[in-house]
Amino acid sequence: MRKRFADLEEISLSYKESGRLIKRRVTICAGTGCVANGSLEVYNEFLKQLESSGIEHLIKIELKKESSDAVLVSSSGCQGFCQMGPLVTIEPDGIMYVQVGKDDVKNVVERTLMGNEVIEELLYTDLSSGKKCKGTEDINFYKRQKRFVLGNCGRINPEDIYEYIASDGYKAARRAILEMTDAQICQEILRSGLRGRGGGGFPTGKKWELTRQSVSDIKYVICNGDEGDPGAFMDRSIMEGNPHSVIEGMMIAAKAIGASKGYVYVRMEYPLAVKRLRIAVQQARELGLLGLNIFDSGFDFDIEIMEGAGAFVCGEETALMASIEGNRGMPNPKPPFPAESGLFGKPTLINNVETLSSVPKIILNGPDYFSSIGTDNSPGTKTFALTGNVVNTGLIEVPFGTTLREIIFEIGGGVVNDNGEIDPDAFKAVQIGGPSGGCLVEEHLDLPLDFDSLGKVGAMVGSGGLVVMNKSTCMVQMARFFMQFTQNESCGKCVLCREGTKQMLALLDDIMEGRATYETISLLEELAGAVNKGSLCGLGKTAPNPVLSTLHYFRDEYYAHVEQKRCPAKQCKALLTPVIIPELCKGCGVCLRKCPTGAITGSKKEPHVINEELCIKCMACLEACRLNAVTIGG
Ligand SMILES: Cc1cc2nc3c(=O)[nH]c(=O)nc-3n(C[C@H](O)[C@H](O)[C@H](O)COP(=O)(O)O)c2cc1C
Ligand code: SF4
Ligand code: SF4
Ligand code: FES
Repeated sequence: MRKRFADLEEISLSYKESGRLIKRRVTICAGTGCVANGSLEVYNEFLKQLESSGIEHLIKIELKKESSDAVLVSSSGCQGFCQMGPLVTIEPDGIMYVQVGKDDVKNVVERTLMGNEVIEELLYTDLSSGKKCKGTEDINFYKRQKRFVLGNCGRINPEDIYEYIASDGYKAARRAILEMTDAQICQEILRSGLRGRGGGGFPTGKKWELTRQSVSDIKYVICNGDEGDPGAFMDRSIMEGNPHSVIEGMMIAAKAIGASKGYVYVRMEYPLAVKRLRIAVQQARELGLLGLNIFDSGFDFDIEIMEGAGAFVCGEETALMASIEGNRGMPNPKPPFPAESGLFGKPTLINNVETLSSVPKIILNGPDYFSSIGTDNSPGTKTFALTGNVVNTGLIEVPFGTTLREIIFEIGGGVVNDNGEIDPDAFKAVQIGGPSGGCLVEEHLDLPLDFDSLGKVGAMVGSGGLVVMNKSTCMVQMARFFMQFTQNESCGKCVLCREGTKQMLALLDDIMEGRATYETISLLEELAGAVNKGSLCGLGKTAPNPVLSTLHYFRDEYYAHVEQKRCPAKQCKALLTPVIIPELCKGCGVCLRKCPTGAITGSKKEPHVINEELCIKCMACLEACRLNAVTIGG
């Protein structure tokens, strides 16, 4: 039965009352990363073990259910520390167990839930101090974060609308729809200083106001959940872990601009996000929060979930709209901007998942609260996917203005070498902003991260990928990785993006494979400028960024490849030469037998030698030698 909006308060109250009767809450992370590591088996094992131990337990808090002393077994969205998953938290004890397997569950039930004991072996160990950490308050990865949009991710069950309502969910939408005019909502968002998290950082309030002023019989709100950047999973985690915040943000946006229909565009490679969004939309409809006459206000708004086929370019707003219309996802020139003529030619507001998810909290806590976080021109927080050569990888959220040093060395726990050991001298660079971004180096470690300061040093916030690289990373290879990505993803509409990226890729290959001259580098730079100028959309316009920024900060490394045919990081296979260290070689002949070209000669028990002319650099000898007598020269 459809419940009425007035029940929001009642739901929240009775949920909280029933919740107080729960003795413990065991939350098993069921984000994509933990599910892939077996967290659903862990979840089921908890139910099984509790059942056989005769402990009263629930999988959901039933409103008005008089139960006491029960254990609630709940799943959650991503808690960020995916590398340590499956994660299990136990409240109110403040315990977080990491890398929990199915076989650990019996132990947790008997020792922690029945015996009130903290199991040391399942706690996270801080690598630098060797200390065991009981819960998130003790773990550096969490301590320095400010989880604003991710606050509910990992804390509530994303498939239970009552949990969201009990954490003040849909209060902001009710206030916006019943107590505020459309112009007032736009003003509040403008005053908060919120800037779009989809990459460009455009002021959200300004975009809303422009769309509000467009006159039309129908308008649309689109949530951009395409997220095609390699390594990025911020939006996915929000959609999976807190889908109602996205729906609520869209409701407020719809009221602000006068839209009656909304779409969430999610790539089909995100099946869990699609599933949870669908459940959330259904639940919101059942409570009358979506559909006709919401809050008896006369305001109608409903949402459809659209699955995209997973092309990076479909995240570009005009391509995305073409895709929803059933056409091939290719960008179109702007103007007209979506605010005037967007989906089906009607005024359309298109915002990123994280942008929309921030909105309810801004309306609830006020724009001043939001603008007090972060920096003057980049208020609020930003989620980043921290990956690469750091101790702690995962999904983080920090206020704008946090420095790279804080992120890499405090939250990330420091840079690791190729053996996975913390090494204070190992830091080389960090790539920020994915294929549209650039890299930053040692001199930028104390730079406060925000939209404007990153732009000034040739990088960008982008969608928030942060890849930390140690000294054994080849920067030419890194640039090539992103160039290969954009080249594959180019939709082909513009010649310079389609052909120019292909040529840039070929030039990078020439550098890495020893065929390049100085002219190759000049040509690469010239082409980078042309691809930027001659491309229609952001994909092509920003495709040269990784190349340009590595050329800026690591020109010597490019020159070493070109001039000396040497890869300083010893990564470019074609430029490496295997050599045998005579002092270490015992003449066992293992390498000789493995060599496919007969390049290795030598008598038994005598040091062997490699004939460079016959060597095809397959490195089979390097892998085969157990005495480490074969090494890389060059
Ligand atoms: C190639 C390309 C891919 C993009 N992919 C995304 C994406 O996955 N998600 C997103 O929100 N914005 C993406 N954008 C930016 C969108 O075009 C648009 O600016 C954004 O969704 C607006 O939301 P915001 O104002 O909240 O940032 C992409 C842009 C380009 C050029
Ligand atoms: S710049 Fe590239 S991706 Fe964008 S429209 Fe042109 S060809 Fe397509
Ligand atoms: S790299 Fe390959 S071809 Fe060259 S010496 Fe070693 S095994 Fe032989
Ligand atoms: S999926 Fe569990 S912590 Fe990210």
